[in-house]
Amino acid sequence: MVSYKELGLVNTKDMFAKAMKGGYAIPAYNFNNMEQMQAIIQACVETKSPVILQVSKGARAYADKYILRNMARGAVEYAEELGCKIPIVLHLDHGPSFEVAKDCIDNGFSSVMIDGSALPYDENVAVTKKVVEYAHAHDVTVEAELGVLGGVEDDVAAEESKYTKPEEVVDFTSKTGCDSLAISIGTSHGRCKFTPEQCTRTADGVLVPPPLAFDVLEAIEKELPGFPIVLHGSSSVPMEYVRIIEQFGGKIPDSVGIPEEQLRKAAKSAVCKINIDSDGRLAMTAAIRRFFAENPDKFDPREYLGPAREELKKMYMHKNIDVLGSAGHALD
Ligand code: G3H
Ligand code: 13P
Ligand code: ZN
Repeated sequence: MVSYKELGLVNTKDMFAKAMKGGYAIPAYNFNNMEQMQAIIQACVETKSPVILQVSKGARAYADKYILRNMARGAVEYAEELGCKIPIVLHLDHGPSFEVAKDCIDNGFSSVMIDGSALPYDENVAVTKKVVEYAHAHDVTVEAELGVLGGVEDDVAAEESKYTKPEEVVDFTSKTGCDSLAISIGTSHGRCKFTPEQCTRTADGVLVPPPLAFDVLEAIEKELPGFPIVLHGSSSVPMEYVRIIEQFGGKIPDSVGIPEEQLRKAAKSAVCKINIDSDGRLAMTAAIRRFFAENPDKFDPREYLGPAREELKKMYMHKNIDVLGSAGHALD
């Protein structure tokens, strides 16, 4: 058993309380490898932002749980070396079962998500409660989910999103004791968050998505005043990256994300954590595709992963400063 406290990590409790008071959201960035971790830490140190490093089931399979744990320990030391002891959480994203959540808690995670959103309500309550009991005994915080996002949730593919029902949230959070709640208000995972039919098109062919269901968010806030809310599927899918990827040989049609102004508005509300993964994938891929097209003779991974890491860092700094509003709050 390795406690997150030995690694210099923190849970989400204080972070969310401060974010709620300050009207900003904590960035939750997914990582699978060293360059992503470095870019996240560099960006968060430079902008003085707290951060949640999140690891999916797929990331655990790709990178190995012990390597990821030691990368999180390395992230803590790296931030100090760069000059700012920012608070860092290591979080399990879309935990699929009690067993996986327990394994993470026993191996240095300071926060876990148990995603029972595809289960019948009572089963979601039961598995979430079981995770909360184990987690809280180890001072680890728990994110749960109610409602179904469109797109792909790790292994779970949902055809259609189902908004969270505000009338269920009090019952769910009081029965389970979870520390934060992921809700469905129109965001979804991946680079195609809406079908072209759901969008309108500008004169130059750019897809404009329908707005998020802020009325549902407001109704949830009324039911649960001061309770930390989480938004998954919150990449904006920047067109500049989509264009670079397509210009240099990629094919990613019908890409559309959540407009940044809507995320900024959400971050000012009870939304305390905003999950971003796809935008990082796009930033790295755009930089690498451009590099290969412009430098066909290069083959040292450092030469193409270096610019990809720089682009990622730039993108995360922009999120912290202009979208989530977390910049400057590391030492609150
Ligand atoms: O919500 C899903 C995240 O973007 C993680 O994706 O399962 O491919 O690592 P992944
Ligand atoms: P995106 O696919 O919009 O980046 O969402 C990531 C996410 O929700 C991770 O849990
Ligand atoms: Zn998610």
